Amino acid sequence: MSKIQQLHTEIDNFVIDSVEKLEQYRLQFLSKKSELQSLLSDIKNIAPEERKQYGILVNELKQKAQNIYDQSKEKLESSVSYSVGLTDVTRSAKGIELGGLHPISIVMNEVCEIFEAIGFSRVPGPEIDDDWHIFSALNFAEEHPARDMQDTFFVHTNPDIALRTHTSSLQVRVMENEKPPIRVICPGRVYRNEAITSRAHCMFHQVEGLYIAENVSFAEMEQTLFYFAKQMFGEGTKIRLRPSYFPFTEPSAEMDVSCNICGGSGCALCKNSGWVEIMGCGMVDPNVLENCNIDSTIYTGYAFGIGIERMTQVKYKTNDIRLFFENDVRFLQQFQAVK
Ligand code: DAH
Repeated sequence: MSKIQQLHTEIDNFVIDSVEKLEQYRLQFLSKKSELQSLLSDIKNIAPEERKQYGILVNELKQKAQNIYDQSKEKLESSVSYSVGLTDVTRSAKGIELGGLHPISIVMNEVCEIFEAIGFSRVPGPEIDDDWHIFSALNFAEEHPARDMQDTFFVHTNPDIALRTHTSSLQVRVMENEKPPIRVICPGRVYRNEAITSRAHCMFHQVEGLYIAENVSFAEMEQTLFYFAKQMFGEGTKIRLRPSYFPFTEPSAEMDVSCNICGGSGCALCKNSGWVEIMGCGMVDPNVLENCNIDSTIYTGYAFGIGIERMTQVKYKTNDIRLFFENDVRFLQQFQAVK
């Protein structure tokens, strides 16, 4: 009993203030050769009437020695890393900075999602394509000015290959590979050899749409595009279709939406007209269907090409297209962060 008492005192007086001291403590009180261990082994030699009481006291002592060891070890470990500066657990947490989506991506996704909800599927395609897919299959005459060096970036080594000037090239690719009914939406970047100003750039984005089936009408196209405009810009949005010309559609139109910057009263973006042009559209020319091996006596369809930059400008009220390509973080930070 006096040995137990003595060990209690020794343990109480033992100061553990370093890793070395901790090890010393372990050897002295917890190792196989320690006095405490021999007290434990002695339990069986104690007279039966005192054994129970003795056992309780020795085990209490053992538990106390072990607890002090565990606590001191934990304390030392955290203070060791603290003192060598590995982790400052008291430092306030810093938020993780996530990037954001580019406004052009936000709007392009939004356009695609509106059409996906009504049955269109998203199809990707090459930014560098051949003359057939960009022009010839789309009914561009041999001497059409869009083929001119002034508009199109050709690949130096091969005049048959160019950076696509519009996403309409994807119409051809889809029609060549799929049988009607076809209902696709093709987002992407396009290139034109144009002077860079606040209104035009040598690269921009379009979303192409194509619907081919039996008995597709112009009225169906108009209602689909009207639905799109309302989803995109709000219920009160008005649209108007103006007659236009594209080699690959007949009849062709350009679609304007009411300007939501000025609400229709006239501003710089809508050039005081109250309307902003956002897309070209029309019924797919039978020649184009035939070029892609689709029987134009059975099938009809409509196509449209939406200009994403202009729409983004209307949506976010930005007045200079160049802002989208300069990647100034002060500009980009104003758009929705990734969730
Ligand atoms: N490709 C045309 C352009 O870049 C836009 C366009 C107009 C696409 C009419 C179409 C369409 O699909 O039917 O100006």
